[in-house]
Amino acid sequence: MKKIAVLTSGGDAPGMNACVRAVTRYAINSGLEVYGVERGYTGLVNNKIFQMNKRSVSDIIQRGGTILKTSRCPEFKEKEYIQIAADNLDAYEIEGLVVIGGDGSYRGAKDLYEMFGVKVIGIPGTIDNDLAYTDYTLGFDTTVNTVLSAINNLRDTMTSHDRVCIIEVMGRKCGDIALYAGIGGGAESILVPELECNIPALVRKIKVNQRIGKTSDIIVLAEGVMKAEELKQQLKDGGVTGSIKTTTLGYIQRGGTPSMQDRLLAAQFAKKAVDLLLQDIGGKVVGIRDNHIIADDIAEALARERVFNKELYDEAVTLGL
Ligand code: ADP
Ligand code: F6P
Repeated sequence: MKKIAVLTSGGDAPGMNACVRAVTRYAINSGLEVYGVERGYTGLVNNKIFQMNKRSVSDIIQRGGTILKTSRCPEFKEKEYIQIAADNLDAYEIEGLVVIGGDGSYRGAKDLYEMFGVKVIGIPGTIDNDLAYTDYTLGFDTTVNTVLSAINNLRDTMTSHDRVCIIEVMGRKCGDIALYAGIGGGAESILVPELECNIPALVRKIKVNQRIGKTSDIIVLAEGVMKAEELKQQLKDGGVTGSIKTTTLGYIQRGGTPSMQDRLLAAQFAKKAVDLLLQDIGGKVVGIRDNHIIADDIAEALARERVFNKELYDEAVTLGL
């Protein structure tokens, strides 16, 4: 293989730039030509493919977002568009493609590989940490740290006013951002979509907390459960008295300079991806399990069922009492 391309797809995540840089530099240093694709699959379909050199990725390791831009490209679910993308790569004689994105992006990558033989390697880039085959995705650590900093600030003001605070965080159907930020931020309660939401029990807990003299009560709510305002209403209807405030952290969670952990993962994932392509291997996704960088078949990785870390959740509950 002589030429590879790299793209970022789906929701952006801190560390994507560090990863684009690492893919580009490892590949060029290994004798490959590297091409960037603009705006994920949209650029692949519209032939927005350009050659990169080592200077193309200077001064980006510390930046959030993605210099390659990203997009959601619904037409990529249709075979005729996947064919156009494969033809475009073919015209440049690009044989390998690194896709940095989440599970949706992986589905597109799988189609490209299975239908048209493009040697695709997936790198997990999403703040959600919702891919079953890898312990961590790129961007998750930075996002959790951003949420932690918000919890710290909110705790200050909630304590001064003796308030209950519902903090809504992202994650789609995955509760990991809520769980990790909740445990790290010392939240009184954490609500995740993987577990049933028991409002009467939560109301009782808040009342006990008020009785025993807690001056603030932080509830970290994953967006996959419900909206913060909805939960506030349910708590009021359930009999919680006193001031309840809501904060939806929103897109602030997606930006920002990547943490050391995410920069390290970016470099390690990139090296594994390029090494596979150098061996002419495609159809894989890289990840980290038990502190080892691994590669799985893309189809198998997508078929795996996510297991929620209930043990960690139970520990968080105990610590919040
Ligand atoms: P993420 O990769 O972060 O999960 P999305 O779910 O939005 O983000 O997916 C990113 C892109 O991947 C979509 O806009 C689409 O182009 C492509 N994609 C998603 N699902 C599929 C699918 N089932 N088949 C082919 N391509 C898909
Ligand atoms: O997948 C990343 C993510 O930030 C989710 O946590 C969130 O639900 C979603 O993307 C928001 O997507 P959009 O950028 O389309 O609003």
